[in-house]
Amino acid sequence: MTRRLKLGVAGLGRAFMLWLPTLAHHPRLQLVACADPRPEARARFRQDFPGSTAHGSVEALCADPEVEAVYLATPHHHHAAHAIAAARAGRHVLVEKPMAVTVAEAEAMIEAADRAGTVLMLGHSHGQDGPVRHARRLIASGQVGAPRLIHALNFTDFLWRPRRPEEFDRALGGGVVLIQASHQLDVIRVLGGGLLASIRGSAFALDAARPTDGAYTAVATFADGAAATATYSGHGRYDSDALMDWIGETGVRKPPSWPGAARGRLASMRPEEELAARIARGYGGTGQPPGLPPAAPPDFHHHFGFVLVQCEHADLRLTAEGVEIHDDSGLTLERTKLPALPRGEVVEEFCDAVLLGLPPRHDGAWGMATLEACLALTASTRDGREVRLHHQLRFRD
Ligand SMILES: NC(=O)c1ccc[n+]([C@@H]2O[C@H](COP(=O)([O-])OP(=O)(O)OC[C@H]3O[C@@H](n4cnc5c(N)ncnc54)[C@H](O)[C@@H]3O)[C@@H](O)[C@H]2O)c1
Repeated sequence: MTRRLKLGVAGLGRAFMLWLPTLAHHPRLQLVACADPRPEARARFRQDFPGSTAHGSVEALCADPEVEAVYLATPHHHHAAHAIAAARAGRHVLVEKPMAVTVAEAEAMIEAADRAGTVLMLGHSHGQDGPVRHARRLIASGQVGAPRLIHALNFTDFLWRPRRPEEFDRALGGGVVLIQASHQLDVIRVLGGGLLASIRGSAFALDAARPTDGAYTAVATFADGAAATATYSGHGRYDSDALMDWIGETGVRKPPSWPGAARGRLASMRPEEELAARIARGYGGTGQPPGLPPAAPPDFHHHFGFVLVQCEHADLRLTAEGVEIHDDSGLTLERTKLPALPRGEVVEEFCDAVLLGLPPRHDGAWGMATLEACLALTASTRDGREVRLHHQLRFRD
């Protein structure tokens, strides 16, 4: 066992809440500081992590001599500035997806980390989920032949959860393309080996009450001739967890949902009430139970909806338990080992990178390639044409 990595958290919102059970209890991490403009979140952090320091700005967090690495979970239009500030201060960075809002920003983040000799890694992305990596290992072993067609589909109520106004603003990365395709196209890139060639897609704003792109569909081609379809809707009617044995995105069994439940909860709220609901759900909000969540192992793997990979000799269906192999001899479920804590694989990879110097698979260049694919989907929608990609790279098997 190596020593604990001293971690500072930038942005104590929904993403941090999802990470909290792992960050608080992982044996390779020690949470030493945070930064957030919200005083109630800072107060809660000091209470939850005695001896920690709570800063009002990311710059102050990065200057804190106790902090070795920063988990960056601020809204995505801040990612570039915050990651560059962290690198300049010599801090390693684990940045939430999407990596940034433009490819130029992503390039500047990579350059800053390279110049400082610090680690820049993406996480959490569903491309890091255990069953995705398991399927990729099966493919890389040659056992099932090359992947030729990948089908990914996810229908959620994403748009009808309490949202910040910026999350509807396309210029700030709002809408489902950046925030959700950065998961789905990442899964597809991992499974297909990374080297996408082009994207042709269409995004749709189907609901005047949620004025942003709420759904998309895309065809991606790989340099080796393989192809993938990616379909997502956050409009809150059909729920594709029906295809995942009613296990939700975070690996928790859930009751079958009914159409319109999330819409019904939000439809009558005014914008300021919705923002208040969002803050209440967040860290330090009135809706948060006291104390830290327990260190509980996950019941199932995280997932990003239905994924089927048609390979030369078998079809692979990803489930919340592992990988189903459908081949000429029948159906086999290969269970994937669960991490001791949810998203533990991401922490292990980040700690290995910072403490042991092992290169992470989801590094800055990988993150930029996924971002490029997401932005191409938006460009394809706007221009009505296929968009060629230029920043793609191979997955490090
Ligand atoms: N991997 C996942 O499953 C996942 C899930 C949720 C969000 N995310 C990502 O995490 C990021 C944050 O999203 P969120 O849903 O947590 O948003 P959020 O609005 O819930 O939280 C953002 C937090 O950042 C704080 N903040 C805002 N400006 C800041 C600044 N200048 N300095 C420091 N803190 C600042 C806010 O006060 C808030 O506490 C986004 O990029 C999003 O895509 C990832």
